[in-house]
Amino acid sequence: MRRQSALLAFCGSALAGATVLGFGALSDPLPPDVTYRPLPTMPFSEVRKIDEAQKDAVMQRQRSLLERRYDLSDKPMDGVMMSGGMKPVQDGVRVKLPEGTSWDDLAAMTPAEIKDRNLLPEGFLPLPHVKQATGGQVFPDHQIDEIHAREMRDLRRFDVDFDLPDNLTPEFPPPVFLTTHPELGDVSRGQLLTIKNFYELTNGIITPVQMEGLRLLLTPFPQEEFNQTEDRKVADQSTGVACLDCHANFHTNAAFHQTPDVRPQADRFRFDTTSLRGMFNQQIHGSKRSLRSVEDFTEFEQRTAYFNGDHVSATRKGVNLPDRPNQVAMMAQMQNIIDFPPAPKLDPFGRLDPAVATPQELAGEKVFMGKGRCAECHVPQTEFMDNNMHDLKLERFYKIGQVFNDFVAMPDGPIKTFTLRGIKDSPPYMHDGRLMTLADTVEFFNLVLGVKLAEQEKKDLVSYLLTL
Ligand code: HEC
Ligand code: HEC
Repeated sequence: MRRQSALLAFCGSALAGATVLGFGALSDPLPPDVTYRPLPTMPFSEVRKIDEAQKDAVMQRQRSLLERRYDLSDKPMDGVMMSGGMKPVQDGVRVKLPEGTSWDDLAAMTPAEIKDRNLLPEGFLPLPHVKQATGGQVFPDHQIDEIHAREMRDLRRFDVDFDLPDNLTPEFPPPVFLTTHPELGDVSRGQLLTIKNFYELTNGIITPVQMEGLRLLLTPFPQEEFNQTEDRKVADQSTGVACLDCHANFHTNAAFHQTPDVRPQADRFRFDTTSLRGMFNQQIHGSKRSLRSVEDFTEFEQRTAYFNGDHVSATRKGVNLPDRPNQVAMMAQMQNIIDFPPAPKLDPFGRLDPAVATPQELAGEKVFMGKGRCAECHVPQTEFMDNNMHDLKLERFYKIGQVFNDFVAMPDGPIKTFTLRGIKDSPPYMHDGRLMTLADTVEFFNLVLGVKLAEQEKKDLVSYLLTL
């Protein structure tokens, strides 16, 4: 029943989309109701022509949604930079409130009241992919430009662009910290690790095994939207995508995709690249899949063409099957020496050192451990996570099945508790990047957990999150 209504909603919205965008034909609509995707039916030149003709409208539609939901402007926090010291952290709550309400009004209502009166701020709802029916990997301009300059490889799609403004994405390139060499600090020397420079940058500080793992993590392999066949979204045949094209310098550049774990296509939620910092302490991987090792994750992403959950399509385009005892193990060992950025105010228990923390940060810690209940899932002793998945049950607050740009918002279900170490470095937040700032996450959890924090407590909590 639920499934059927989602499908109807999808079909309806695809048709509505056709009118709004003036689509003569959709070049590659993934069928809304099937598991396997069909082989391409149109010549590449035709697909490209249709996609290019639709691109402006597609981007405009996404921009309208983003502007309706968020204040996307550049408002840096005074003197607070990301760990590389090059990019300011953004300030303030960016999710827009429905007309005539305040955060305190909402916090005073029951979830049912908010749902019935349609008052949940739209920015708290799942964020759609820029083009839901097509989906796939979308890279920010920095990454596209740098990879093009260094490797002459093209990560630019002809059907969509990246949709968030630069001020709301992580610093680029981000610093790289090694667990094996804390004394060196950032080992990237301000450069993006690529297949061309990795040897020079790491020679003498990593082992031969780690070096081979690094090489493989930087080697592009043909994947869904970036391959040699006519079923691609780049103008020229592509040699593919490397792991670190998304996990830039083992962190994230906010490249996004859709979950591999859900069908039909209309329900596949967007997801934002996670950082690989601190992978060594994590026991479950992926927001939904809960893969049990970095090795499993590494092998599987190669097997299924990076996040389409589709080994059939991957095989057709030239899949890479890394050898588990050798290549996969080495790729995992390299990932496992990537550290979080230093947090000089934390002691070995993950608690603030009162000798160096400010009164406001200490007040924030108190909220985090107490009234805010954050530490019940983000446990300080274990890198501010609990190696569990939790269902936040956001659908208590909204009607499921609402359609946003062809995406049908279903309940999120259980999602992995992400670590909060180094969190100021990785906007946007949540598995799909639906929240732009740390202040947004505080408002979100305040409402969802029903903890009723006061204005000052929220401010203190944000200043605490910046120390982690
Ligand atoms: C298209 C961008 C993209 C590419 C390419 C990519 N990743 Fe990821 N990676 C992601 C996203 C998005 C997630 C979050 C997945 C999820 O939530 O299920 C992720 C998650 C991970 C995780 C688990 C992190 C966690 O917190 O649980 C690991 C490990 C990882 N990737 C390694 C790799 C490796 C190894 C490769 C190459 C084989 C790779 N990634 C290629 C975007 C990418
Ligand atoms: C019941 C467990 C639970 C509690 C309590 C909780 N969180 Fe979380 N937190 C999660 C889960 C699960 C996610 C991932 C949700 C998602 O991506 O949809 C998350 C994600 C986050 C993120 C975004 C992480 C990222 O990498 O994008 C921040 C920031 C955060 N929580 C802060 C807080 C704060 C502040 C509190 C207390 C006010 C809190 N959380 C309380 C489970 C919890």
